[in-house]
Amino acid sequence: MIQIAPSLLSADFSQLGRNVEMLNNSTAAMMHIDVMDGVFVPNISFGFPVIKSIQKLARKPLDVHLMIVDPQRYVNQVRDCGAHIMNVHYEACPHLHRVVQQIKDAGMKAAVTLNPATPVEMLSDIITDLDMVLLMSVNPGFGGQKFIPHTINKLRRLKQLIATTGSNAIVEIDGGVNMETGAELAAEGADVLVAGSFVFSAPDPLKTISDLSNL
Ligand code: DX5
Ligand code: ZN
Repeated sequence: MIQIAPSLLSADFSQLGRNVEMLNNSTAAMMHIDVMDGVFVPNISFGFPVIKSIQKLARKPLDVHLMIVDPQRYVNQVRDCGAHIMNVHYEACPHLHRVVQQIKDAGMKAAVTLNPATPVEMLSDIITDLDMVLLMSVNPGFGGQKFIPHTINKLRRLKQLIATTGSNAIVEIDGGVNMETGAELAAEGADVLVAGSFVFSAPDPLKTISDLSNL
């Protein structure tokens, strides 16, 4: 069974508690939390007070995806929000090795995210330190965008890099996931699929999460 991480970015925030409760009762493996600062990406989502409110209700691990500059400044705050996984962008971290160690020292799992144009080979000297790699299959900043097909090629190369280095990292894919793209990603060995608009615009989100889990 593939792990599903529904993205609350596409939820109705006036009903946040109800949506978190729905995810608690679903087959989702974790909750994906998208933080945007309006600088690293051309959009602003929400910050720590909102994550704390989610954490109070959540009975699944929080996968926090930071689309922000200087994520290393916030390692302790992310931990204090109850994050299980802290995802930082490769493109936002000139001192990636140090940030990864800081995340692990803070007791969280360390994940590195790659934008669509960043080659997976950029991780070859840190892959054995990582718990997870997140491949963006859209340009980060917005939900509801179309899946970039080249992601499949990157996924194959990443799986190969993981196998040849003996890394324990799992692979998560984020953006444009639906039943069709999800099936292709599952067949290529993706471990975790993020799904935002496909889940929250569905007439029956619980069933949609369960269908994706069974891919
Ligand atoms: C995009 C975010 C995604 C987003 C995915 O910048 O990182 O997590 O919520 O949304 P969908 O699944 O609608 O592409
Ligand atoms: Zn995300």
